[in-house]
Amino acid sequence: MIPSFRTVVRSAAHYLPARRVTNDDMSELMETSDAWITERTGIRSRHFADVNGGETTSKLAIEASRLAIERSGLSPKDFDLIIAATLSPDYFFPGIGPLVQHALGIPCVGAIDIRQQCSGFVHGAAMADAFIRSGQSKRILFVCAEIQSTIMDMTTRGREMAVLFGDGAGALVLESEPVQNERDFPRADNNVRGIIDNIMGGDGSGAEMLIMRTPGTSSAKFVTPEDLDGGSRWPKMQGQSVFKNAIVRMCEASETLLKRNGIKATDLALVAPHQANMRINEMVREKLGLPPEKVFNNIHKYGNTTAATVPICLSEAQEEGRLKKGDLVLTVAFGAGYTWGANLIRW
Ligand code: ACO
Repeated sequence: MIPSFRTVVRSAAHYLPARRVTNDDMSELMETSDAWITERTGIRSRHFADVNGGETTSKLAIEASRLAIERSGLSPKDFDLIIAATLSPDYFFPGIGPLVQHALGIPCVGAIDIRQQCSGFVHGAAMADAFIRSGQSKRILFVCAEIQSTIMDMTTRGREMAVLFGDGAGALVLESEPVQNERDFPRADNNVRGIIDNIMGGDGSGAEMLIMRTPGTSSAKFVTPEDLDGGSRWPKMQGQSVFKNAIVRMCEASETLLKRNGIKATDLALVAPHQANMRINEMVREKLGLPPEKVFNNIHKYGNTTAATVPICLSEAQEEGRLKKGDLVLTVAFGAGYTWGANLIRW
């Protein structure tokens, strides 16, 4: 018989840099207010890395990964793949995967960076699941990390985006378990732990809606002084278009995954959605017909940490006792690209 495998979440952890920045702190940098930010987004504070003190994206990733590995009871030597999701790596290249590998003393295994923006977790989890199900990997360190605070234009010109984002990291240890029979695969109607199903989407017609153009090969010299002075190095967003598409695609991905696994939203123990805007998550919650306690949000504390939002939610939900072993959890996200996706997991 050809061996089969399922992907079990062995542990989760997160790390936030120490410095907490409130909306009032932001209003010292630009024309904004606590009232505007809270009312439009639900965000009250976010954490910013100490970049002058040497904190980088890989360092946040390393902190979250170290704790996830400690919680798993495994040793760094046990891993045979690293998947790292970030749009804000320490360098344009190499990515953060090899930096995490070296710092943690993980053997010289594959260390893959993916750049799926706010969909980094949902797409990375689907990839990790494919590696494990195919038998190629036994133990994967999957880490998502961002430093957004140095990417943003922290002046009134950039306020529409700058107030939304924060820095942070979340990590999962994913492990392969052998499956002997078809009925022992994780499914929504059994109690077998593991990733049940994944869905991914992408639509480049939305690329211009949320974009950071420079550095990149669309600029004749990759990056020029004019790019820097003219502001093309700052990310740009058509906020209302992103907002509407996020709701449509997050609802669509969630409903498709629920339907094809024969369950209703009310069968879920918890939804851990991407944290972009509390109003987006409330609309998704209402469309799914769920009470507030079934959806985990922490955007008020951390803002949008892009790829890291979902694993931070999962780790925090577990620490707070809102996510336990055997619970059915749905993760769902939408981001630049456009990209989106969802995962159904028996935790
Ligand atoms: N402080 C004060 N005023 C601001 C700020 C700010 N930080 N930012 C924008 N404004 C002003 C604008 O200049 C504009 O002023 P004007 O009317 O005089 O021109 C006005 O506020 C815009 O107000 P609204 O149209 O009411 O803003 P809206 O309700 O669309 O909210 C927001 C804007 C919060 C950006 C919203 O569109 C949004 O959340 N979009 C989703 C974007 C997102 O989440 N992106 C993250 C990456 S992708 C992802 O993670 C899904």
